[in-house]
Amino acid sequence: MDIRPIIKGVIAKNCNPEGCRESVQSQIHQLQQLPAISTGPKKVLVIGASSGLGLATRISLAFGGRADTIGISYERPPSGEKSGTAGWFNNLAFTEAAEKEGLIAKNFVGDAYSEPMQQQVVDYIRSEFGGSIDCIVYSLAAGVRPRPDGSGFWKSSLKPVGEPFAGNIINIEKDQMQSVSMPPASPEEVQETVKVMGGENWEEWIRCLDSNNLLARGVKTIAFSYIGSDVTYPIYFGGTMGQAKLHLHDTSDRLNKFLSKHQGEAHIGVSTALVSKASVFIPGFSCYMMALSKVLKQKGEHETCVAHMHRMMKDFLFNPEGVKTDENRLIRADDRELNPEVQAEIFRLIDKVTAENFRSDQYADYSGFIEEFMGLSGFTAKDRVFPETIASQEPALK
Ligand code: NAD
Ligand code: NA
Repeated sequence: MDIRPIIKGVIAKNCNPEGCRESVQSQIHQLQQLPAISTGPKKVLVIGASSGLGLATRISLAFGGRADTIGISYERPPSGEKSGTAGWFNNLAFTEAAEKEGLIAKNFVGDAYSEPMQQQVVDYIRSEFGGSIDCIVYSLAAGVRPRPDGSGFWKSSLKPVGEPFAGNIINIEKDQMQSVSMPPASPEEVQETVKVMGGENWEEWIRCLDSNNLLARGVKTIAFSYIGSDVTYPIYFGGTMGQAKLHLHDTSDRLNKFLSKHQGEAHIGVSTALVSKASVFIPGFSCYMMALSKVLKQKGEHETCVAHMHRMMKDFLFNPEGVKTDENRLIRADDRELNPEVQAEIFRLIDKVTAENFRSDQYADYSGFIEEFMGLSGFTAKDRVFPETIASQEPALK
């Protein structure tokens, strides 16, 4: 089927179902070339399982460690003219492949913040999943969370705190680099971001599973964070998202104590920067990711998302010698990105990238960035077609 991508700014409005399926199969294939996770969990719940880090972790634990998995996600099936979301098709492709391997792969599609979802998952674990789980992966990335009292939503923001921030984004629809400035967040915006992307819902899930006696001895839970470098600090870790991540880190310490009664552990996996539906919105982030990818590819250290999460699981969380963390109890799978040599080179390159030369791949991996972005929706870079009016336009000046 010939499906053309519909892109508005930095948002892909449709997906290619067959391409999504191929992308999941290719991630599974990549994983199968990597060493097995011999001491991995066998009964896993992934909250936020249909794309990005959650899907890559699900693939790693299922195909690298033969785990049965339950995946929760918020996705839309196709209906009428609408293609459905990429994550919907990713779920289908994952399930088909896992079942072929004789693994359980159960999907729940709906709101992970809601109590009815918790109840459904509890009932399923109790009646059909063997009665207990030994790993919970929390990988939700959401823009909103319904307020429990029914009075609307909390909204998360991607804004600096204290001072405004200006940086470039790559407008993928127009193939232009555009400068965007962001005012600092209000205190309410900070609080709401913490409500949506902090650790509250993670903690609710763990306490709910515990009170229903579904946690196995030695259970491990992990949630994902990003810390980044000086380049990304003002807009990320120093901004609204950083406040939410700090709350997530505090939650991991609290949960770690709470789980000691099961000889369990709670951890934060600090991941490297990856192209995602959300990260392309962040001013300055796309150029940073393009420069990062250029440097890591040159060093032979570039990882796909699935290779990255496989390393986080195998070498860090399920390391046979014990979980590997830094002095702050954080798993640092972002070590390659934060290598001072790599950062110095990123600084040097980013300075040279302009609105005129960014497509050339000379200083930053633009091709890789576009391929990754299109791949999120089951497309390739070649599927992108520009109307003549855009193709013939001079690139926008900063
Ligand atoms: P993603 O958008 O690819 O995945 C988000 C998942 O959450 C999807 O499965 C989606 O269906 C699900 N989801 C969203 N709202 C939901 C809801 N209300 N109920 C149930 N499911 C819902 O995002 P991602 O990039 O994989 O991010 C996952 C986590 O990893 C986030 O905490 C993010 O901050 C963190 N992280 C991302 C990066 C990165 O560079 N992408 C780096 C470090 C950490
Ligand atoms: Na995810």
